[in-house]
Amino acid sequence: MLALDDYLRLLPKTELHCHFVSTMSAGMLIAQAERYGVPLRTSDAAELFDYADLREFLVDFEAAHQVLRTPQELARVAYDGVRLAAADGALRYREYFVNPHSFAAVGLGYGPLMDGVLDGLRAAERDFGVGFNVVVAIRKDVTPTEATELVQLVTDTPYPEVVGIGADYLTAEGTEDPARFAEAYALAKRVGLRTTIHAGETPHSGPEDVRAALDVLHVDRIDHGYRVVDDAELLARVVDEQVPFDATPISTTICSGWRLDPEHRLATLIAAGANVNISTDDALFFRTDLGREYREGLVALGVDAATARRLALNGVEAAFCSDDEKAALRARFTGELLALDAMLDPAVAG
Ligand code: ADE
Ligand code: ZN
Repeated sequence: MLALDDYLRLLPKTELHCHFVSTMSAGMLIAQAERYGVPLRTSDAAELFDYADLREFLVDFEAAHQVLRTPQELARVAYDGVRLAAADGALRYREYFVNPHSFAAVGLGYGPLMDGVLDGLRAAERDFGVGFNVVVAIRKDVTPTEATELVQLVTDTPYPEVVGIGADYLTAEGTEDPARFAEAYALAKRVGLRTTIHAGETPHSGPEDVRAALDVLHVDRIDHGYRVVDDAELLARVVDEQVPFDATPISTTICSGWRLDPEHRLATLIAAGANVNISTDDALFFRTDLGREYREGLVALGVDAATARRLALNGVEAAFCSDDEKAALRARFTGELLALDAMLDPAVAG
């Protein structure tokens, strides 16, 4: 008989909202920072990851790009990250945000960057059976022209696993402002790339940022998006249209400044029937992993076993993989869930 905690640990999972550098281990970050002379706030791993807010975290997130400078180092991070997540989080498929502008700051071009990342992820897929795709992320503090040029670069340098465009960070003014990148997203859509964007996450954002992402950028998915619950009409619309939300419970304790309890906006979003899937966002920096997001994050939000199961399956349906890959992933989840559900303690089945 499986208790809830074991059921959530063993539940097969996707992760659609995961920033590549944040799959690095703390040991690797500290060693590489020393190697390249990149200053971190402290070399004590116990204190390194205490952040007051998103902006403070983004300083370290930026530094993490500067400690990876060769395709070999990138491949190692990619491979080791999958090995750990498959073991700790029953990870079956993952999508990675990769920020070329942040790597370019230390001279790493788009080709060597993707060669390294994809080498490691392909090897990990062979060894651990974890499928993947990559979403190139626009830093919101670049100009709209730089963003469009990045989408053009992605288009002109095709890799089969680079399937989408996202946008993270904040603008120089600390806002989310999706509409700034209307031209970049229009180009992405024209060339057949899938689209998503961070919106409705931070204290300075609101439901209007999610609305702009939907109505101006016409994105396929929203990263975070919790603030839609502040607008009843928009909430009803996203439930009706089943817009996928790539939610990351534990990161909201820092980036949004919220406590994980049943009053949390994400709990409201889930209870309203929105199409939510679950990820870590930045496992390294927020001291989390995919298993913890379900076993601690969702449980603190008051989510039961049946709902957690639904959220795991939502991740399959919202993935930016091909129809064939999705059918295979769906079949794999169905088989694993059949066995798991049969073992779940009926008292916690929900
Ligand atoms: N970059 C990495 N994680 C992020 C987040 N949660 N919000 C904005 N930018 C990010
Ligand atoms: Zn994110």
